[in-house]
Amino acid sequence: MEKLRVGITGAGFIGQVHYDAFSKVIGAEVVAIADVDKKRRDQFAKRNNIRLKFDSLKQMAESDEVDVITLGVPNYLHKEFAVTCMKNGKHVIIEKPLCLTLDEADEIIEVSKKSNRYAFYAEELCFIPKFVRAKEIVDAGGIGRPYMIKEWEKHAGPYSPWFFKRETAGGGIMMDMGCHAIEFARWFLNKPKVKSVYAQVNLVLHKKITKLDDNVIILIEFENGVVANLEASWALKGGMDSVMECYGTEGVIYADLLRGGGIKCYSERGFTPNPEESRGWTFPEYDWNYQNGYPQEMQHFIDCILHNKEPMESAKDGKVVLEIMIAAYLSAATGKKIEFPLKVPYKYKYPVDLWLYPLKR
Ligand SMILES: NC(=O)c1ccc[n+]([C@@H]2O[C@H](COP(=O)([O-])OP(=O)(O)OC[C@H]3O[C@@H](n4cnc5c(N)ncnc54)[C@H](O)[C@@H]3O)[C@@H](O)[C@H]2O)c1
Repeated sequence: MEKLRVGITGAGFIGQVHYDAFSKVIGAEVVAIADVDKKRRDQFAKRNNIRLKFDSLKQMAESDEVDVITLGVPNYLHKEFAVTCMKNGKHVIIEKPLCLTLDEADEIIEVSKKSNRYAFYAEELCFIPKFVRAKEIVDAGGIGRPYMIKEWEKHAGPYSPWFFKRETAGGGIMMDMGCHAIEFARWFLNKPKVKSVYAQVNLVLHKKITKLDDNVIILIEFENGVVANLEASWALKGGMDSVMECYGTEGVIYADLLRGGGIKCYSERGFTPNPEESRGWTFPEYDWNYQNGYPQEMQHFIDCILHNKEPMESAKDGKVVLEIMIAAYLSAATGKKIEFPLKVPYKYKYPVDLWLYPLKR
């Protein structure tokens, strides 16, 4: 079978995750890496035995040796890079969040339509086997009619400086992991329309290095009456949390991605490079990439291209997520519930500006 040739842009954290995911995908093969940081790029190519190296996304997009490109670069580059890929005839897999503004989102959707190229939205929570199983049970009526869903994504903060700047990230934890929780809830509930959004936004733990938010609570009221109660945080001590709960008229379902259902270990000395992280009771990860849904996500995108299928997650979903995040910042700034369809009567450049700076019409 002919394989689609994949190029990865960004030799950072998620670039490696994409590579690992594609190593399990049927019908595709990673052939190229692009990064402005040549040292990182070369190390990535060597580590993963990748034959083609590019200095820029543009060079990769213009190459006729690549069919699909994944974007694992800071958020502010997503729109420009996605458009360049599609205008050069490449399908594009865009990491979350889709982009920084609704105008950018519209441009991505428009170019995808005009160029007849896919603009996939890489939200892996919709492919996590544990969450997929929970959804199957709920869809089969296992807990009656769902009336409330909860999801939270938390850890102690990211690694690269660009996450902490509004110009490169568009916002803090809201844009980094709030988007995961939002799309999880939409997907799990079969994408009902949003009626309103209410949010609390705070900066708790990172005041010395950023003005951006590091702890958010988002309440979404859907038109079908179901409520999503979502949290995202960079202020959690003690490891990462990725947890969902769904409450129904005839039952309830809980799924904790990282604790339980796997290995449970008590170690007095610790067993990780930093033993502090693994002393005492822990839940050691195994097959992390698979458990987090990345190969399933990439397989789905490749299948869509190969068999001309409608994707489960596209730029249109990324735009709705962005609308909800913008509404959440606006709600936190005004103390009000924001009704949909969303209208923002204030000027802002980046989503977080609505919360950070005094509102001006
Ligand atoms: N879905 C997930 O689980 C997940 C997890 C982490 C990050 N992400 C997303 O992935 C994206 C990248 O995050 P990361 O954690 O990999 O960041 P990172 O800082 O680890 O890596 C970013 C890479 O992009 C490169 N880069 C910067 N500017 C570039 C340019 N102009 N051209 C080419 N390369 C450039 C950097 O040199 C770096 O190697 C972000 O949008 C982030 O939100 C998603």
